[in-house]
Amino acid sequence: MARAFVAQASYVAGISQTTAETALLIVSELVTNGTRATGRVDGPPVPLPAENVAVLFVMVRAGDGTVRLDVWDRDPQRPVVQHAEDMDETGRGLLLVEALAAAWGVYTPRGAGTSGKVVWAEVAA
Ligand SMILES: Nc1ncnc2c1ncn2[C@@H]1O[C@H](COP(=O)(O)OP(=O)(O)O)[C@@H](O)[C@H]1O
Ligand SMILES: [Mg+2]
Repeated sequence: MARAFVAQASYVAGISQTTAETALLIVSELVTNGTRATGRVDGPPVPLPAENVAVLFVMVRAGDGTVRLDVWDRDPQRPVVQHAEDMDETGRGLLLVEALAAAWGVYTPRGAGTSGKVVWAEVAA
């Protein structure tokens, strides 16, 4: 879903195929991480109608040849880049993001009723 969304946004904005493909790889990693984190904390992040609502926000901004991705999840815990051993199959996602993105980071949204954090990344043209 997120991949299709990024592909569509990139296409509409005339993003190059190389840049769009990089954005697809990055959004996969961020959404996978966000999905896992979402299952880890009890209670909704903001007033929501039901207890067991799972929410993940994905924002895609494509334009001027670049793609900016923001993925929010409700876990306030910030990601920690792992230094995976050669044979490890996990702990590589953020290393990939670090390698592919022009810039990336984490921020806590401001304002009433907000919690969790956003992991963002920018792909350069
Ligand atoms: N959205 C997130 N919320 C909380 N912790 C995160 C998030 N993304 C990553 N992490 C933490 O950072 C670690 C490294 O992430 P990553 O490099 O993607 O490796 P992996 O997902 O394979 O464990 C994860 O194991 C997790 O503990
Ligand atoms: Mg990961």
